[in-house]
Amino acid sequence: MAMRETDLDQRVEAVRRFNRFYTRQIGVLQEGLLRSPFSLTEARVIYELAHHEGTTATELGEELELDAGYLSRILRGFHRRELLAKQRSQIDGRQTLLCLTQQGQEVFAKLNAASRDEVGSMLAELTEEEQQSLVDAMHTIERLLGAQPEHRVPYILRPHQPGDMGWVVHRHGVLYAQEYGWDERFEALVAEIVAEFIQNYDPRRERCWIAEKDGENVGSVFLVKKSKTVAKLRLLLVEPKARHLGIGTRLVNECVRFARLARYRRMVLWTNDVLHAARRIYEKAGFALVHQEPHHSFGDDLVGETWELKL
Ligand SMILES: CC(C)(COP(=O)(O)OP(=O)(O)OC[C@H]1O[C@@H](n2cnc3c(N)ncnc32)[C@H](O)[C@@H]1OP(=O)(O)O)[C@@H](O)C(=O)NCCC(=O)NCCS
Repeated sequence: MAMRETDLDQRVEAVRRFNRFYTRQIGVLQEGLLRSPFSLTEARVIYELAHHEGTTATELGEELELDAGYLSRILRGFHRRELLAKQRSQIDGRQTLLCLTQQGQEVFAKLNAASRDEVGSMLAELTEEEQQSLVDAMHTIERLLGAQPEHRVPYILRPHQPGDMGWVVHRHGVLYAQEYGWDERFEALVAEIVAEFIQNYDPRRERCWIAEKDGENVGSVFLVKKSKTVAKLRLLLVEPKARHLGIGTRLVNECVRFARLARYRRMVLWTNDVLHAARRIYEKAGFALVHQEPHHSFGDDLVGETWELKL
């Protein structure tokens, strides 16, 4: 019996040694994580906010097992630094939903990229075989300690940055040609739309969101000012390999949320009847079809549709 306790003691020490080694290895002991002004806990809170469409403080506290007082101090700090927006829930008016502001999304995108780079350079020191055995060992730790599988899809939404407009034009050109047979005139139209967006960009009332998964752009949507009271949703696109994960729905919901915050009264969008998946998303978000019109564009006979949502 005494012998077994000694064995256990030794294992306890081994686990604690590993914890000391690994916390130093990933830099969580330094005051600011990844040379940012954020503590590890603050960075975890930002991570959760970035991966939710809107969450409550209670939900966040439960997920991260954080003390309510500590969490609310962190959230107040984020709010003061204009990283966090609060909004009354449309479903349950008693609840306040939390989400990152544009600035918050930018901060998160930077932290996320720095974290990916850091882990990337840690792995780069190892051979491919060693990397695999490290990842296998980590899976074993997770399994033995009962880690729950992550349910959410690991993608982020972030504001546009240099290079994104070119990507939007390029992928629209390629994908609409492959999927619908549209010619380069469509690509030219997209180039005009993004050029106009950048040249007349009003950051208070307009936005572009880029969805990023595993460090790669996989989706886009734009919300532009049509008039003082009307906003227009444009250029919704999700890469085929990232479809059916809810990214398209999230991009549209993000536009609607922002349009409400920016106090537009109506949202409109123009689409074509062949874009079935997109129609389904617009319907679910509450848009109604208000006008249909046949047209010949991009080398094809099409039926254009205008959809509207009262905000
Ligand atoms: C439309 C698009 C952005 C959807 O992206 P996504 O990330 O796959 O969307 P989601 O995962 O949120 O799925 C949305 C819904 O569409 C449904 N859907 C997917 N493909 C569909 C299809 N071919 N027909 C009907 N519904 C479809 C999904 O089942 C889902 O509905 P559900 O959740 O009620 O089951 C993507 O398909 C795309 O880029 N299409 C080409 C470009 C386009 O049509 N853009 C719209 C311009 S107006």
